[in-house]
Amino acid sequence: MSRPDKSIHGQWSSRWAFILAATGSAVGLGNIWKFPYITGENGGGAFVLVYLLCIVCIGIPVMMAEIMIGRRGRQNPVNSLKSIAKEEGAGQFWRYLGWSGVAAGFIILSYYSVIAGQAIAYIFRTISGTFDGVTADGAANIYKSLTSDPERLLAWHTVFIVLTMVVVARGVRGGLEKLVRFIMPALFAILILLVGFAANTGEHFTHAIDFLFKADFSKLTGDAVLTAMGHAFFTLSLGMGAIMVYGSYLPKNTSIMKVTFAIAAADTAIALLAGLAIFPLVFANDLSIGSGPGLIFETLPIAFGHMAGGALFGSLFFLLLVFAAWSSAISLIEPAVAWLVENKNVSRRRACVYTGFAAWSLGLLTVISFNIGQHWLLFGKTMFELLDYLTANLMLPLGGLLIAIFAGWVMPRSSSQQEFAIKKPIFYYIWLILIRFITPAAVIIVFLNALGLFN
Ligand code: PFF
Repeated sequence: MSRPDKSIHGQWSSRWAFILAATGSAVGLGNIWKFPYITGENGGGAFVLVYLLCIVCIGIPVMMAEIMIGRRGRQNPVNSLKSIAKEEGAGQFWRYLGWSGVAAGFIILSYYSVIAGQAIAYIFRTISGTFDGVTADGAANIYKSLTSDPERLLAWHTVFIVLTMVVVARGVRGGLEKLVRFIMPALFAILILLVGFAANTGEHFTHAIDFLFKADFSKLTGDAVLTAMGHAFFTLSLGMGAIMVYGSYLPKNTSIMKVTFAIAAADTAIALLAGLAIFPLVFANDLSIGSGPGLIFETLPIAFGHMAGGALFGSLFFLLLVFAAWSSAISLIEPAVAWLVENKNVSRRRACVYTGFAAWSLGLLTVISFNIGQHWLLFGKTMFELLDYLTANLMLPLGGLLIAIFAGWVMPRSSSQQEFAIKKPIFYYIWLILIRFITPAAVIIVFLNALGLFN
C-alpha cells in the first residue's frame, strides 16, 4: 500500500519546529496552574514521585507511539488509526479511539479556555497595580471577585477561544509554528526569575523542596495515584490524538525517540520549577496548600505585590501563561479541525468556526460552575471538576491504554520498527517491552487501585 509522504495540511519546517510545537502543546496550564494545586491537594512528595514514574513508564512510551502512529498515518487521528488498522488487517472499530480523542479535546478546551481567560484578566490586574502590597486575604478576595462574576468569565473565555481559533485557522506553519517559537524560551526565563524570588524566602524554600520531594506514602490514596497518572497524560498532551496529529506533520527522517525525550524533559522541568516558585510563597504566607484551582491566582500576586518591578514581572508572567495555554489549546482542537477538513471537505477556516463555537458553548458549564452553579454537584463535584475528572482521569488514560495496545499489539513489529528507523535496535526493544507490557499493566493497575480493588 502506498503511503503519503506528507500530510495534506503541510508539515513542520524542521525537527526543531516540531519539538517546539509539541513542547508548546505539552507545556501549558497543566504545568503551571494544575500541577501545583493537585500536588497541594494530594500531599506532595509521594504524589510527585508517582507522577514522575508515570511520565517515565507510561508517558514517554505512549508519546513515542502517538508520534509513530501519526507519522505513519499522515492524517487526523481518526483516519490514521482507521487506515493503519485496515493496512494491518485489524478491525475498523479502532477509529472510535480517534473519536474519543476528538471528544476529549473538545471537553478539555471548554474548561481550559475559562481558566486561560482568568489568566488574561490577571495580566490587566497585575499591570494596573491592583496587587501592590496585597495581603493573602486581599489576593483571595480579588480572585473571588473575578470568579463570582459569570459575565466577566464569559467575556475572557470568549476572547481566548477566538485567539485559539485564529491561530488554528492559519494552519501548521503560518499559525502553530510561528506562535511557539518565542513563547517557550521566554516562559522558561521568567519562571527561573520567579524561582529566584521564592528562593529568598529561606526556610520556606527548603520546606517547599521537602514538600515536593520527600515522599510520605501514608498520604497517598488510590484516587491520588489515579490523579497522578491522569496528570502525566494531561501534561504531555497524550491519550487524545493531539501529539498524534502533530506527529502527522513530522518530516520523515526525524528521530522519534530524541524528540520525545526533549519534550518530556522540558515539560517536567517546567512543572517542577512552577512548584518551586509557588510553594515557598504558600508556606511563607500561611496559605492553604489544598486550596484548589485558585492556588496560583491567590499566591503569585502576593509575590508580585511585594517585589520591585512586580507589576511588570507579574503581568509578563500572566502574559506568558496565556501564551503557554494558547499553544496548548491549538493542539486540543487540531484533531477535530483536521478531521473536518479531510472528511467533510470544509475549509480550515470554516472548520475553526464550527469547532470553536462548539467548545465555547460547552465552556458555559465551566463558567457557571465558579459562581451561580457552584452548588450544582454531581458525584460531589462541580461541573468543571466533573469535566476535568472525566477527561484527565478517565478518557486520557483509557485512550493511552488503547493507543499502547494498538502500537504494541495491533501494529506488527515490522511496521513500527520501520517507522522508528532506529539505528540501535536495543532502544526499539526497550520501547516494545514498555508499550506491550509495562504501560498497559500500569494503567490497568492504577484503574483497579482507584476502584479500591487492592484495599
Ligand atoms: N498539556 C497541556 C497542559 O499541560 O496544559 C494540556 C493538554 C493539551 C492536554 C493538549 C491534552 C492535549 F491534547
